[in-house]
Amino acid sequence: MKKSLYILAAVILLAQFIRPSKVDEPVDPASDLISLTKPTAEIAGLLRVACYDCHSGQPRYPWYANITPVNWWLAHHIEDGRNHFDATTWGTVPAYQRDHQAKDVMEMMEKKEMPLESYTWTHTDARLNDAQRQLLSDFFKAKRDGSWDIEKTRRKAAGEIK
Ligand code: HEC
Repeated sequence: MKKSLYILAAVILLAQFIRPSKVDEPVDPASDLISLTKPTAEIAGLLRVACYDCHSGQPRYPWYANITPVNWWLAHHIEDGRNHFDATTWGTVPAYQRDHQAKDVMEMMEKKEMPLESYTWTHTDARLNDAQRQLLSDFFKAKRDGSWDIEKTRRKAAGEIK
């Protein structure tokens, strides 16, 4: 019994050396969502506090982000999150992709699926109320130009998507 506990402790200790690299990209004012769109201070604050940790190249890492396997879990959230919606490349992706992301954010706000629930356990300031969700939704609605709908129709016609 005692021996197996030592082995377990050794494995946990050794695992600490296996860490994913942290994301820390410079802010490019020519492509960052907040720099480009200049939202009100309230909206910028909400984006930073509730979304940027998983949807930008500048996540703020909590102390427990140094612990394996928590760090892998967070790294996965950031990678997966940015694949869907990335504030850092907002200005450099094609217009239809921006439009698509804006549409998805509106959907996420309505369904209350974002920010991820697990995130709000430790980030209490990211628990959005209905008024804050509406504010973000309206902000992204104003950014929509409908180009995703056109691209989607084209892709459907070309058989690229169903
Ligand atoms: C803790 C990390 C985390 C936070 C914080 C977070 N997201 Fe996400 N987000 C993800 C992950 C992971 C995915 C991809 C998997 C999924 O859809 O659940 C995602 C997906 C999305 C998508 C794509 C949904 C789709 O249908 O493809 C949008 C849009 C989005 N998030 C917007 C936001 C907005 C807006 C905020 C802030 C209000 C936010 N997220 C906060 C992790 C996060």
